[in-house]
Formats: sequence, structure tokens, C-alpha cells
Amino acid sequence: MSVATGLPPLAPDEAAHSARLEARIRDEIARGGGWISFARYMQLALYEPGLGYYSAGARKLGAAGDFITAPEVAPVFSRCVAVQCAEVLRELGGGDILELGAGSGVMAAALLEELARRDCLPQRYRILDVSADLRERQRATLEAAVPQLLDRLEWLDRLPEDFTGIVVANEVLDALPVERFVVRGGVVNALGVTSQLGRLEWSETRAPVALADAVRAIERDTGITWPEGYTSEVALGLADWLAALATSVQRGVLLFVDYGLPRREFYSVERSDGTLLCHFRHRFHDDPFTRLGLQDITAWVDFTAVAEAGQAAGLDVAGYSTQAHFLIGCGLGEFVADVTDLDVVSRVNVSRQAMVLTLPGEMGERFKAIALVKGYDSPLRGFAVRDLRHTL
Ligand SMILES: C[S@@+](CC[C@H](N)C(=O)[O-])C[C@H]1O[C@@H](n2cnc3c(N)ncnc32)[C@H](O)[C@@H]1O
Repeated sequence: MSVATGLPPLAPDEAAHSARLEARIRDEIARGGGWISFARYMQLALYEPGLGYYSAGARKLGAAGDFITAPEVAPVFSRCVAVQCAEVLRELGGGDILELGAGSGVMAAALLEELARRDCLPQRYRILDVSADLRERQRATLEAAVPQLLDRLEWLDRLPEDFTGIVVANEVLDALPVERFVVRGGVVNALGVTSQLGRLEWSETRAPVALADAVRAIERDTGITWPEGYTSEVALGLADWLAALATSVQRGVLLFVDYGLPRREFYSVERSDGTLLCHFRHRFHDDPFTRLGLQDITAWVDFTAVAEAGQAAGLDVAGYSTQAHFLIGCGLGEFVADVTDLDVVSRVNVSRQAMVLTLPGEMGERFKAIALVKGYDSPLRGFAVRDLRHTL
């Protein structure tokens, strides 16, 4: 595995922040007998109150942050999602939107603007985000962008009960903590974290039953025989997370967009070092032990696992497609063509954004959209152009 080299240096206050989180993690490793699982490590690194990457004040999204997401780079992405939301809200005869992990709030703002234009506003636009820091940023974004709609906005601390409407989440699944495993001598080992000579590092031990069972189930399901040393990730917490969401939704649609693959491709022999990726100031690398609390740590999404977890929780899989096809189904072409009111620079920008969102070498195929539904059996236009459920 390569390590991060050539990353921008840290300012003294950043280094101090990182050191505080590292001390917190070292403490937990010591209390855990010298080892913690990678999922626990990821949980602490990203979400430890006041210290984790998402819980503390790092800039995170945007040009001045560490990574850029589709809503940040291309407002037309959110307008297309709004088209899908409008269809669902009309079909349900009303309802709310719940956005999970709303980042800087730009998608919420663009969604609400587009829905207002279509005269199809939700009763409430609710946001649930684990990051207190980002919640403040969302509030500021929305106060500036849609002051006339503030009375429809609501920030939640927990999932609502009896939700009717559409749940949207862009790039949230990839932020759920994952376990990392390695196949060694026919045995499944867990790759966890230890502290040696003042450094956090990988440490391998026999996998606990839940992880070993999950990995064996993937092997059985895919029929793939992995070579010695094959390493990858599995999101053991996904099923419970989705089950809680499924319980919260009484009637409606859950729409997730993220980078990922169907299981057979995710766990292909060629992808022998997994999908773990860290983002620090627009540099990508695979060392989760550097820039602690200052860099994002993510893993790709196994969309077959999302579909299975949804079904186990009583949801139906209503569609799965590439981001490109989903956006085209939601009218991306019409947004690009309908530029009569725009100046030349804005027209060029909309075309450029559409290309970034749809080209296979950009976000078009790496990112996928999946819809899970409960008590909802109408077709979803985002999946009308191309439905790839058979690949899951
Ligand atoms: C990669 S950012 C994506 C932000 C935004 N959706 C976008 O596309 O720009 C991940 C977001 O998910 C939030 N998040 C992570 N885990 C979450 C969870 N379990 N529930 C709700 N939000 C979560 C983070 O705080 C952050 O806002």
C-alpha cells in the first residue's frame, strides 16, 4: 500500500488539533488492549465530538476544502434531483423532503429553488446531519439563498417518525465507517489499528465472527476466489443504518447517490487493495493515519449490499443506474438546452457542468443512483432511461 507523500504541510494549530485527536484514539486503543477495529477508528477520526473531521471545523467541501461533490460543482445536479423529488411529491399528494448529510447546504438551496419554480414545494425540508459544524454552514447557506422558505426548514437530531416523502443523500453512504479485511492463508483477518513507537498503524488479527461471516457470504455470493493477501472493506453497520431509516419511513422513496459498484465488481480480484480513499486539500491518497481529523476517509459503496439491506428492512429496490443516466432521466438535457435567459458565460458553465456530471471519465459512471421505496409503486423517471438493477 502506498502512503501519502507530498501532502501540503499543516499550520501549527492544525497539527495541534490532529495531535489531540490522535491522543484520544491512542487512549481508546490502550483501553481496548492495544487494538481497535478499523470501523471504530474511522468513527473516531471522522465523528468524534469536537475533534473528528466532520465534527470539528475543517473546511471540508469546496475549492478551499478537501473535496468537491456534485452539488458543489454543478447546481444542475440538484435541479435534476428536484425533478425526481417533484415527481414523488406529486405522486404522494404532498409530503416532506429529508436530506441526510447536507454538507454545505447547496443542494438543499438549489432543490428548494427548483421546486418553488415548479410550484411543488415540500411541506417541510428536513435535514439530518451528524456534523454540528456543517449544520451551521447549512443554515447560513439557506438563510442567504432562500430566506423566503426558512419556515419550511427544520434540522433534526434524530430520524423522524412516520415520515412521508422522499429521503435524499448524496455522498453519505461512502462516509459510513467500514471494516477492513485481508485474506491470509485461507483465513479472514481483520485489519485494525494499533499504536507502535508513537505511530498509529495497521494491525492484523483473526477477524471477529461478524466480519468473517460477512466476508464468507460475499465470497459465496460472488463465487470469486480471492488471492492470498486480498484486501478490501465491508460496511457492517449499513444494515442497521438502513433498517432505522426504513422504520422511519411510512411511505415514500429513499434516493442515494454515491460512488460505488455492484458487489461482483467491487470485490473483483483486480481490486485487490480495496477502495479506501483519503482526501486532503484535493489530493487523494490511501493513508488514513496522517492528517487525523483534517482529512476525509471514505470507501466505495457496495450497491448490492445497499439493495440487500434495504430488502431485509422491508424496502423494495425501485431503480439503480449510473449518475449519468439518472440525471438524463431527470431532464438534464432540457436544463442544458433551456439557456435562453442566460448570458454566454453561464451557458458555457451549464454545458461544462453537464459534462462533468455525465462523462464516463468524470463522475458519470463512477457514481450511481439507487432508489429504495416503501408503499410506493409508481415508476421513477430517473431510472426510465436505463435501469441496471439486474447487475446488482
Ligand atoms: C461527503 S459529505 C457530502 C455532503 C453533501 N451531501 C454533498 O453532496 O455535498 C458527507 C455528509 O454526510 C454527513 N454524514 C456522515 N455520516 C452521516 C450520518 N450517519 N447521518 C447523517 N449525515 C451524515 C456529513 O456530516 C456530511 O455532511
